[in-house]
Amino acid sequence: MSDNQASLTAGGKTIDMPVNSGTIGPDVIDIRKLYAQTGMFTYDPGFTSTASCDSAITYIDGDEGVLLHRGYPIGQLAEHSSFMEVSYLLLNGELPSSGELAEFSRTITRHTMLHEQLATFYRGFRRDAHPMAIMCGVVGALSAFYHDSTDIADPTHRKISSHRLIAKMPTIAAMAYKYSVGQPFVYPDNKLSYTGNFLKMTFGVPAEEYEVVPAVEKAMDRIFTLHADHEQNASTSTVRLAGSSGANPFACIAAGIACLWGPAHGGANEAALNMLKEIGTPDKIQHYIDRAKDKNDPFRLMGFGHRVYKNYDPRATVMQTTVREVFAALNVQDPLFETALRLEEIALSDPYFAEKKLFPNVDFYSGIILSAIGFPTTMFTVLFALARTVGWVAQWNEMISDPGQKIGRPRQLYTGPTQRDYIPLSER
Ligand code: CMC
Repeated sequence: MSDNQASLTAGGKTIDMPVNSGTIGPDVIDIRKLYAQTGMFTYDPGFTSTASCDSAITYIDGDEGVLLHRGYPIGQLAEHSSFMEVSYLLLNGELPSSGELAEFSRTITRHTMLHEQLATFYRGFRRDAHPMAIMCGVVGALSAFYHDSTDIADPTHRKISSHRLIAKMPTIAAMAYKYSVGQPFVYPDNKLSYTGNFLKMTFGVPAEEYEVVPAVEKAMDRIFTLHADHEQNASTSTVRLAGSSGANPFACIAAGIACLWGPAHGGANEAALNMLKEIGTPDKIQHYIDRAKDKNDPFRLMGFGHRVYKNYDPRATVMQTTVREVFAALNVQDPLFETALRLEEIALSDPYFAEKKLFPNVDFYSGIILSAIGFPTTMFTVLFALARTVGWVAQWNEMISDPGQKIGRPRQLYTGPTQRDYIPLSER
């Protein structure tokens, strides 16, 4: 914390407010006493200038295109680490030793099965339900199944429910897929890695042996790593806000999943691939660029732009490389990749996108990879949710462990009618 002060003159009064510094990143003006001292609130819809918490987990410098987890750059983690290792890092603050990693992986592996009654729960959904609708329902329903780890004041309970969520998410996601295609659920296979197991539960069938393709497993694991956490984004803030009331951890993660589903957030990967399909061939790109620039057209380039990144999203760089690796491993080509590359090139040389600092984000290329692996577009956001679960639980744990934690309760600028008397129905 620095000794700096900021002063504000409002309503004829000048008040001083502390300015706090983190380890890196912009300082923050501590306005907590503002209302008591001035009778005024700050106004910041969409939290564009508001830090809602302290956090030591993830740091983003959006101007420079930097993303660090516990200090480690995402590019290094994506290249050298694994999703299990990054999960340990996010939860515990440090990279694990080999013994710690083995123990953590063993613990997660032991929690991969779902209560058998949950299979019945799935059957209550329509076959054509969006898998994200199933995810919201089933993850919320975990609250009704695992009562022995929900005392959030107990760190051991929090740890167990965190491990359960991370471990069960691939099983839940794979079952959502299986249900939608009418195939039997495949039980977890604890001989496999976290990611290999997920691929088998998704694409395996009881009638045949399933062989995990190492290059696909590696690419999938990297995609999970790239999505593991992203500081105080909308879904993470939703999890924190839900958790701030002391709500059940499984219910909080279900709230995060609901928020992630939207096309402005995690739903953008599905929307980006649908957009590329709609554009089809490179000759149609200019038409869509023109639409994205037209203020009277609600169309936006999906997978482009970010609240925080005003530079290339470092995750998009890794995604683009991964597309090529997956294509080579599976010996496939997708003309949509050419369309995407060309779209990026045209957009980045257009003054509209340059002035507004709109660059490809993580969702721009991910759909092309997921589609090559065999996932339908409706599963894309599910995969994002699966991977983000570790970030959500790490942030939720950090919040609950903070002794200064308070229930989240924003204020408002009221613009409705002032007080008026009730008019009986007969007189209206
Ligand atoms: N295409 C065309 N114009 C855009 C786009 C886009 N994708 N994104 C922003 N703009 C324009 C927008 O019209 C606005 O113009 P003006 O200042 O003239 O009104 C300006 O850029 C700023 O946009 P904003 O909506 O005020 O910015 P925001 O920070 O509120 O929104 C965003 C960020 C990600 C919601 C937005 O860029 C967007 O809708 N992108 C498309 C959806 C998308 O790809 N989302 C995934 C985000 S990354 C993954 C994740 O974290 O979930």
